[in-house]
Amino acid sequence: MDHRTTTTQDRDLAQRHAEGWTFLVEALRDLPTTGAVAPSGRALARLLTDPVRHHPARPLNVLEAGAGTGSVTRSLIPLLSPGSHLDVVEANPRFASRLHHLVRTHPALATRGDQVRVHHTLVEHLDVNRSYDVIVSGLPFTNFTPAQVETIMNRYLELLHPGGTLTYFAYRGTRYARALATPSEARRHRAVEELLVHYHRRYATGCWSVWGNLPPAKVWQLRCPPTRFGAKHHTAAGTLR
Ligand SMILES: C[S@@+](CC[C@H](N)C(=O)[O-])C[C@H]1O[C@@H](n2cnc3c(N)ncnc32)[C@H](O)[C@@H]1O
Repeated sequence: MDHRTTTTQDRDLAQRHAEGWTFLVEALRDLPTTGAVAPSGRALARLLTDPVRHHPARPLNVLEAGAGTGSVTRSLIPLLSPGSHLDVVEANPRFASRLHHLVRTHPALATRGDQVRVHHTLVEHLDVNRSYDVIVSGLPFTNFTPAQVETIMNRYLELLHPGGTLTYFAYRGTRYARALATPSEARRHRAVEELLVHYHRRYATGCWSVWGNLPPAKVWQLRCPPTRFGAKHHTAAGTLR
């Protein structure tokens, strides 16, 4: 191992360390919205970004929602082929400012920084004129109300190209943790899980566990129907509005 490799590894380690602290501070400030006490690990980030990896040469429009300190964003950036575009959305202003810095300083974006845009907003308020081939969601759905989750899932389906892919994750075991909380918390959590099952029944193409993540997580992959009709008029009950 030469000196250069050691320096890069040291820098990488120091960066991950700093990121871990930033994440923990934000979790202590607002755990329901932050949704985790640590950023996603590499294995989870890799699985979430797999649909982009499956089309190495095609220019893709990609949306990442809830990017936090950028652990998944860092996995996405090297996968962007020429002509691809990545929109990164983050609600927390301190995370958003770190993401701006990541995009400004990432070596792979030195000559093509306009390929990635950071939006400091709630994803449900994102105002864009494009649709996406891939959406990667890091949002902590099990902390939200069923109404919020339905709004966001339907917005994702609206934003996806017909045939486009959505990946998202949930930590394993949150149901048992909620069962120990108040009955109303347990009810809200169950309602969110039941709502997500409706989307899985209609759109899921895969589900994998990442036991090596801290905490272990489950990744879901959903595919938007090939015609817009099903997506735009979707309700959790599977009926058309
Ligand atoms: C569980 S963290 C995941 C962070 C990162 N993707 C990762 O895997 O390490 C969830 C992130 O979603 C952000 N977030 C929560 N609700 C949001 C919303 N409605 N729109 C955009 N970002 C949101 C939080 O601020 C937080 O950074």
